[in-house]
Amino acid sequence: MPGIVLIGAQWGDEGKGKATDLIGTKVDYVARFNGGNNAGHSVVVGNESYALHLLPSGIINPHLTPVIGNGVVVDPEVLFQEIDGLEARGIDCSHLLVSEAAHIIAPYHRTLDKVTERFLGKHKIGTTGRGIGPAYADKINRVGIRVHDLFNEQHLHDKVEASLHQKNQMLVKLYNRRPIDVDQTTEELLKLGERLKPYVANTGLILNKALDEGKTVLFEGAQATMLDVDHGTYPFVTSSNPTAGGACTGTGVGPTKITRVIGVSKAYVTRVGEGPFPTELFDESGEWLRTQGHEFGVTTGRPRRCGWFDAVVNRYASQVNGLTDIVLTKLDVLTGLDEIPICVAYDVDGERYDDMPTDQAAFSAAKPIYETMPGWSEDISNCHSFDELPATCQAYVKRLEELSNCRISAIGTGPQRDHIISVHSLID
Ligand code: GDP
Ligand code: IMO
Ligand code: MG
Repeated sequence: MPGIVLIGAQWGDEGKGKATDLIGTKVDYVARFNGGNNAGHSVVVGNESYALHLLPSGIINPHLTPVIGNGVVVDPEVLFQEIDGLEARGIDCSHLLVSEAAHIIAPYHRTLDKVTERFLGKHKIGTTGRGIGPAYADKINRVGIRVHDLFNEQHLHDKVEASLHQKNQMLVKLYNRRPIDVDQTTEELLKLGERLKPYVANTGLILNKALDEGKTVLFEGAQATMLDVDHGTYPFVTSSNPTAGGACTGTGVGPTKITRVIGVSKAYVTRVGEGPFPTELFDESGEWLRTQGHEFGVTTGRPRRCGWFDAVVNRYASQVNGLTDIVLTKLDVLTGLDEIPICVAYDVDGERYDDMPTDQAAFSAAKPIYETMPGWSEDISNCHSFDELPATCQAYVKRLEELSNCRISAIGTGPQRDHIISVHSLID
């Protein structure tokens, strides 16, 4: 009953979409367990490139069943746009399963996301503006709308009324906005529910049965360890648990069914939005990484902040997620550098930290302590085994592995499906 969790080990955009697609050829189910359409996962197959936001990246593989678990927040309008876009390109989405317990992102969540960010001013988080935070806030406040609520008009009306009661007061009195109409919102949601109904299922039961029958389930994380609401750089985080534990709560599968936890890491680091980032580069090296790595957001198009590999972050990700394997991506981007710095520890006001400081004030003050490795100039995109990599490149990977407390099982050498070096099998 292989249950494989795949998560981001840094601040997102590590290449989870590509890694999921790669493993997806060998699995029966791919289940998203957290986040919503704040994610942007790219998959490149031949000349075709897909940008997925809400659908599991595995949907590109026709033989597997894609699942949206209960831990995901679903914006039905976005879901249908994404399904229509893929079906127009010949990708069948009819076998998609959506948990009846997943929470809905309603139009008022998107409105609230934008006005609260504006209101926060210089304290803003830099969210994707997709309504993610407000939808999860409603879930925790117990005024959320769940998928199964969309199928009963009276029940839905009551829920929307309860949810909008306080929000309308806030919108009018605090944000100087018009109130949102309960009847109209209920009607819109009912219509969306009609289209959603054929996809809705008891996904927790289906995934558990599949695992009991010996089928393979891949749990695809969105966002990443450092954006986790509990374990990340709070408050500059997303509002869900992208760490491995989230795969259980976000799908209804118990931890004893998880056999593998794969962390995806870039060979350097990027971050989108606000918040501390110790190895961030503000000079031409940062610009060089952004250009070489095409580091612009898949969801918002924002330029990604770039920095050198941070081993403290990766060690922390190994610990928090219980990683069994790392997929190291975008190693090819570093080709052409004479030397490559690696952050091995932090200096916080003269004190050395080998482990992640728990105090966010300390993390914000952390200065990277670097060690430097020699670079390589050879094109590595056609290397298909570890031994084919230039010696200095091998040494860089080995050092990252040592510093990360976890073996590196696959290495990305380009965006295409076959731009990958397999060191250890990711599935068995
Ligand atoms: P995700 O959010 O973790 O799925 O990552 P994104 O799709 O947002 O960003 C990763 C980007 O890197 C995408 O454009 C991928 O096509 C690309 N990519 C993934 N792996 C590699 C790699 O090994 N080398 C290169 N050059 N690009 C890669
Ligand atoms: P993938 O799955 C990178 C960031 C936003 C912001 C913070 C909170 O593609 O790796 P939110 O809209 O979630 O409330 O924004 O989290 N963020 C991401 N950064 N990759 C992502 O997803 C992200 N999803 C959210 O930029 O800083
Ligand atoms: Mg992304």
